[in-house]
Parts: sequence; C-alpha cells; structure tokens
Amino acid sequence: PRRLRVAIDGPAGAGKGTVARGLAERLGYLLVDTGAIYRAVALAARRASLQWEEEGAIGALAEDLARGGRIALERSPHGVPPDSSAPPPANAPAQSSLGGSGMRVLLDGEDISSAIRAPEISLGASRVSAVPAVRKALLAMQRQAGAGGGVVLEGRDIGTVVFPDAEVKFFLTAPAEIRAKRRYDELVARGMNVSFEATLSDVLRRDKADSERAVAPLRKADDAILVDSGHRSPQEIIDEMATLVEIRA
Ligand code: C5P
Repeated sequence: PRRLRVAIDGPAGAGKGTVARGLAERLGYLLVDTGAIYRAVALAARRASLQWEEEGAIGALAEDLARGGRIALERSPHGVPPDSSAPPPANAPAQSSLGGSGMRVLLDGEDISSAIRAPEISLGASRVSAVPAVRKALLAMQRQAGAGGGVVLEGRDIGTVVFPDAEVKFFLTAPAEIRAKRRYDELVARGMNVSFEATLSDVLRRDKADSERAVAPLRKADDAILVDSGHRSPQEIIDEMATLVEIRA
C-alpha cells in the first residue's frame, strides 16, 4: 500500500488531537500537530518579551525560528511526553484531552510540550497565526514534515494551503455547544472555576477569529470529507477514517 498524506482540519474542540493521534497510531503513520508549531512561536515571542501587536518583530522571529531549525517535533516513546512526570501548570489542560498529541515539541532543544498548553499561549498562538509572515515562515517546515507521506497532519489549513494535494482530507467538526461542553468539562475536571457561557463564548470567538482572518482562514477544502464528531466516540471516528485511508492507499 502507498503511504499517504492525511489532512485533518477543523475548529477548536472538535477532537482533532485525539482522533489524529489515534489514526496515526492505527496506521503506523507519523503525526504532525501543526498547532504546536504556532504555539511554539507564541511561546518564543512571549519569552522575547514581544507584545502580540508587534507583528513585524513576531514575523521576523518566526523566520529566524524556522530557518535556524529551532523548533522541532519529536515522536515521544509510547506517546507520552517525557516531561509529563513533571506537574503540569495548574491551569494547563491535560495532554490526553485538550490538545496534546503525544509528540514532544522542542524549542532550541528544550522540551516545551507542557508550556505551550498554557491558556495564555493558546490565545497567543491564535494571534501570531494571523500574521502573514508567520504563516509563510512555517509553511516550508510543515511541507517538509509531510513530504515523504505516511503522515497525519492536524491543523486549520492543511487541506487548503499546506497540502492542497493531500491524498485524503478530513474536516472534523461538531456543533459549537458540544465543543464548548467538552472544553468546559475538561476545565471543571481540572478544578477551574469557569462558567459554561464563558467557555462557549471563548469557543465562538476563536471560531470567528480563525475563520475570518485574511490569510489561510479555517474552511473545509472542497474535496475534504466532512466528519461530525458531535455524537460519536473517537474510536468510531478513527475506525471510519482508517477504513477510508486504507481504501485509497
Ligand atoms: O490546534 P491548536 O489549538 O493547538 O492551534 C492553536 C492555534 O494555532 C489555533 O487557534 C489557530 O489559530 C492556529 N493554527 C493555525 N493553523 C494551523 C494550526 C493552528 O492557524 N494549521
């Protein structure tokens, strides 16, 4: 069988992380979590004391990070990030659920897998990802990661921009209320004092920002298979996707 490039795009809370990880494991494919790369840029910008408004400087930083090979994604043994024995920051989502791909993310050799899940960096990632120079700088990195095939790439614009010619494309989504409920349950389980209404309005705000931005907005590619994760288990979805990939391989 051929080793394909599989694109999984969709909005926050659709379950892309869980499904992409399960599918990659099942197929024996490499997993590339492209959101983690945007998060790494946001963390580096924060550490350089840049404000999110400083788009010129953030663009230049992203170019430097990409050109210098300073961001790396690594498969971690057994899908468990090596730093997971360290206590996560009090307000960081669990690796197993809200994001967290079982890969480790390195910045200048330092494992930043947990640090990039902090809420402030989620916000920052969505800010820096709207800067055209940042998207441009990260494009080559993502294409290189997927070039050989045998890869599941997860993000917002994989099927539309990064690999418009990917052999299999999925667009994973669910009604906003369901995506917000998942996130809300996660946050409550971690002891955070949030309301469902606030969580829902965050989800809606991020949907709007991601789908209305000028460069590479979130949208389903015409040839992507629409998958609604609303009332189905991750396992069911992974089974269905794996079957579709195997048919085309
Ligand atoms: O998927 P994740 O939540 O980790 O992504 C963080 C942010 O990075 C998203 O809110 C989105 O704005 C941005 N992103 C993007 N393009 C991608 C992946 C992520 O713009 N391919």
